[in-house]
Amino acid sequence: MTDHDVIVLGGGPGGYAAALYGASAGLDVALIEENKVGGTCLHRGCIPAKALLQAAEVFRTVGHAAEFGVRLPDGATAVPDWPVLNARKDRVVSQLHGGLSGLLRRRQVTVIDGHGRLTADGAVEVGGQVVNARAVIVCTGSAPRSLPGLEIDGDRVISSDHATNSTDATLPERIAVVGGGVIGCEFASVFTDLGVQTTLLEALPEPVLPIGPDRDVANALARALKRRGTTLYGGAQVAPLERTAGGLLVSFETSTGAEKIEVDQVLVAIGRRPVTEDAGLAAAGVALSDRGFIDVNPATMATTRPGVYAIGDCVDTPGLAHVAYAEAVVAIHAILSERIVPVDYDKVPWVVYTHPEVAWAGLTEAEARAGGRDVEVRKHPFAGNGRAMIIGDTDGLVKVVAEKNGPILGVHLAGPWASELLAETYLAVNWEATPAEVGAFIHPHPSLSEAIGETMITFTGRSLHG
Ligand code: NAI
Repeated sequence: MTDHDVIVLGGGPGGYAAALYGASAGLDVALIEENKVGGTCLHRGCIPAKALLQAAEVFRTVGHAAEFGVRLPDGATAVPDWPVLNARKDRVVSQLHGGLSGLLRRRQVTVIDGHGRLTADGAVEVGGQVVNARAVIVCTGSAPRSLPGLEIDGDRVISSDHATNSTDATLPERIAVVGGGVIGCEFASVFTDLGVQTTLLEALPEPVLPIGPDRDVANALARALKRRGTTLYGGAQVAPLERTAGGLLVSFETSTGAEKIEVDQVLVAIGRRPVTEDAGLAAAGVALSDRGFIDVNPATMATTRPGVYAIGDCVDTPGLAHVAYAEAVVAIHAILSERIVPVDYDKVPWVVYTHPEVAWAGLTEAEARAGGRDVEVRKHPFAGNGRAMIIGDTDGLVKVVAEKNGPILGVHLAGPWASELLAETYLAVNWEATPAEVGAFIHPHPSLSEAIGETMITFTGRSLHG
């Protein structure tokens, strides 16, 4: 007997998207979640982190208010109010949580509170009860990684889980961020802007976003962070942390020698691991990789166990909420035996919400050249863009990588609202448009998007202002 059409195991972005999309297609869906629906993204990740970044943006804007002719009373300076700032972030999270819970109710998704485990016969056991369905979608997510010597205690040594849920009365005075990937850079940006003495320690030679975006846009972020006071170290081998009377001693070696700094807190941002233990996967015949990710056929998100699918961070694909959404749609289409448009993982949109923001889709210049392509590249700085000058934020550039006389292969942005500007360029990359085609479309004036239009036009050998 089947209780439901689909059981979704885990209520993060992958899980709730599968439940909502499945229900909208007429499926009877049960969603099992042991914590709160919304998962890491809503409660410990994307949403609270971006709310903190927005507070940093307001703080920076107030710091520059005098430039715009908006004077604070003499001698007054802005001071971050950490508890109030966190309370606002919490309100955003709880509003979204309420909205999501309501939406699941309205779509008549049965939300089951508890820890679910697959059984050998492909059902799911939760709280002593066995729930059956035609298909199961596993979306159990990921958790921060740590290393011996960098054990996370949630107090002095924290992960993004804690940084997004701080109950401290004040900000730390000094912080070391270990790992210069997306999480490390976003928090280095927040802490630097809120006046925390911030040191970023990255193991790879490039300290800022060593993997992912084109070097030109990553370097724009590195320069901007440095200018605002972040201390950056690439090639840093961090030794086990030592407690001192005043905080923590962080010892590390770089190619230029050994260093020691004392800090109040260390944020460990060295990657995330899939949460695939204790979900009954082995018993159900669902195969895992050596690194604990669930093996799937990316064309359908089917696992090695017929009827069981897996999506989101527990699968070895980019760990992004919007990729999980897309995988949820693929899995539901597979369950319904409908036509599937698989995710093109080489062309997904990436956004790092630092200041300046960094966003990209498609190949970097280095990747395109390494692939033996005949590549043409154009760059356009925001410095000459009218809207960027008006908002007082001219750092960064647009970089377009295209095949000679062919389609756009990659677009890389650093600058104001790069997160939003990416939408147009993401479509261009995925539609395999040529630069001239995109350049022929009108971009409003004055707007930041003109920088994209101008870059595309320059591929034709002519230009307006670019
Ligand atoms: P990451 O993989 O992006 O970066 C981790 C960095 O730590 C790497 O550069 C790595 O070389 C470095 N590292 C590893 N071990 C180290 C060590 N012992 N000492 C110093 N550096 C070390 O992982 P991150 O930043 O933790 O984020 C995890 C995932 O979360 C991302 O891959 C992404 O999928 C997702 N995420 C996405 C965001 C976004 O889209 N805006 C924001 C936050 C997270």
